[in-house]
Amino acid sequence: MNLKEMVGIKAASYVKDGMTVGLGTGSTAYYMIEELGRRVKEENLDIVGVPTSFASKEQAEALGIIIKDIDAVTHIDLTIDGADEISQTFHGIKGGGAALLFEKIVATYSKEVIWIVDDSKMVEKLGKFPLPVEVVPYGQEQLFRLFQEKGYNPTFRMETEDQLRKTDSGHSIIDLNLDVIEDPIALALELDQTVGVVEHGLFNNMVNTVIIGEAHGPKVIENIR
Ligand code: A5P
Repeated sequence: MNLKEMVGIKAASYVKDGMTVGLGTGSTAYYMIEELGRRVKEENLDIVGVPTSFASKEQAEALGIIIKDIDAVTHIDLTIDGADEISQTFHGIKGGGAALLFEKIVATYSKEVIWIVDDSKMVEKLGKFPLPVEVVPYGQEQLFRLFQEKGYNPTFRMETEDQLRKTDSGHSIIDLNLDVIEDPIALALELDQTVGVVEHGLFNNMVNTVIIGEAHGPKVIENIR
């Protein structure tokens, strides 16, 4: 079993009958959704899933998990999602799979958030992983230049050599190649206030529990807030 599968299965064990569950996106969340599908079939687990991407929706539906749109539920009990980097102070970078906007909305309205990662994603300081910024296509070249002037080393996320990657909402992604983010709170605030930015991949202190895949088994750490 690979580390992603290990943490995906472990995280799915936190899901109980009657829960409304935010379904994350990416190659680690994939295993969690597979395991939930198995439990729905084999254990009659009674849950509603709120997907964070078209891909997760499609996967969950194919497995027989009941799916509802975020605005069709009154609450979300628990969201389980992957992450690209997690710092020791529980700040994170997400959006490597371009689903950051829906992921952040679903996480915001969840009572509990669990992140599942392999141990390579635990870092001292965020920033080695390029920070995804979801932007409105109108004026995106201006925004790109602004990021260049600030020294953020931006690159447009590409689908093919000459086609931009589009998110599920039809926006573009500019990745900021920062190397190190000394102050994630200040940077998040700055990006929140930048016109044309829809959302960014800094998920600061939004997680309750991190399940880390290590060679000898999953390690669970709690973010005491
Ligand atoms: C999707 O946009 C991301 O936030 C993912 O959750 C994140 O990139 C982790 O993905 P993997 O589990 O595929 O590494």
